[in-house]
Amino acid sequence: MKKGNDIDRYRAALAAQMGVSSEHITLFGKGRQGLYALLRSLGIGQGDEVIVPAFTCVVVPNAIIYTGARPVYSEIEPCTFNSSVEQIQARITPATRAIIVQNTFGLSPDFDPILALAREKKLFVIEDCAHGFGGSYKGRPNGTLGDAAFFSTQWNKPFSTGLGGFVYVKSPRLAKAMKEKEAKLNLPSRLFEYLLSIQLFMRRHVLRPAVYWPLLKLYRKLSSWSLVSGSSESLELSGTDMPENYLRGFGAVQARAGLQALRRFDKILERRREIVAFYDALFKRLQLPRPFVPDYASHGWLRYPFLVRDRKYFLQLAEKAQIPIGDWMKSPLHPITENWETWQYVAGSNPVGEHLSAHMLNLLTDPDITDHQLRRTADFLEKHVRELLPLPSRSAEASFNDLSRPNSVMQDTPHTLPEATFRCL
Ligand SMILES: Cc1ncc(COP(=O)(O)O)c(C=O)c1O
Repeated sequence: MKKGNDIDRYRAALAAQMGVSSEHITLFGKGRQGLYALLRSLGIGQGDEVIVPAFTCVVVPNAIIYTGARPVYSEIEPCTFNSSVEQIQARITPATRAIIVQNTFGLSPDFDPILALAREKKLFVIEDCAHGFGGSYKGRPNGTLGDAAFFSTQWNKPFSTGLGGFVYVKSPRLAKAMKEKEAKLNLPSRLFEYLLSIQLFMRRHVLRPAVYWPLLKLYRKLSSWSLVSGSSESLELSGTDMPENYLRGFGAVQARAGLQALRRFDKILERRREIVAFYDALFKRLQLPRPFVPDYASHGWLRYPFLVRDRKYFLQLAEKAQIPIGDWMKSPLHPITENWETWQYVAGSNPVGEHLSAHMLNLLTDPDITDHQLRRTADFLEKHVRELLPLPSRSAEASFNDLSRPNSVMQDTPHTLPEATFRCL
């Protein structure tokens, strides 16, 4: 089978899953690179502003900054961890060109009002669908609602190609511009593909939630020595200079992994939902509100968020007990906990995003988690229930006034907020 065929097949399978034309999908080495190429295709650059939620991954503002444009951060809703139309509106200026909205943990924002505002103001709407593949808004798949969407297929995303990303655009003219950009990308080297094949094999056959902590440590060490393909280069986490050879192509090894994952995607999603039903029952037993899911959404459940008094301490407990716990979003610019001004973020400007990220962790919903591991996680949470805090809920009069100080690495974040701030709409 020729290389090109695998890539074409993968593109067609993505298009079929989303119910769109494969002509409108372009493939990239990572999701962030797709976003950068999209912003460039839109002519966004110096003097322009792009609105992005203050609960994002730092590589998203990086992609904006690399174009010369300015990221402007919008506050998030306490229940959905997504920005509302009002919060976005508050950040619009004459320089705004585009709005990025995120499917946080797999949950869509309330799209219709955001789209109406964007039409009125003639702004381009981009979905950050890194978490969102598989979920939907009013019956329409996440990633098909705005003018464009970028997706990530990195290791711990809704389905994985090891590393990888793709972009969907609605307009045929833009699709043509994106295709031209894709055609210029260098395909991954043989060495990259070889190393990635080994990692994919390990991920499939060795990396089980049971060995999460030791392998996470090993992976971070190896990627700091460039022996495995890590998610971010150190340059992306230390400043805003664009790394050399930032834009990369998507290769046949990744396409084959994607094809395999898409064939079982419905099963993956079904298993995630079973795991979520287990966590829901657990949270009910612990008398804690489950994550809020508005009527308009079908949640993709990439992760199951919860809050703790002290993140650092809780992660230490989890590591000691060998319970896999995720650490997203550890700041409004995950994973950056200091020097936020480097990314043009003003500390204190989005208290809800800052406060929630100082206390948020998540439970994994990976389809290969066994029932035994779920029970161990439940026992662990039950044992340490005093460390947990209720998520803001619609019915509960959620208050965070009694919190202890957030962990010490956070900047001087306001942590005692008016009760009303955390009430959901
Ligand atoms: C919310 C969000 N957006 C964008 C990205 C970037 O995706 P990628 O790693 O494929 O560039 C990530 C994850 O890494 C993410 O969590």
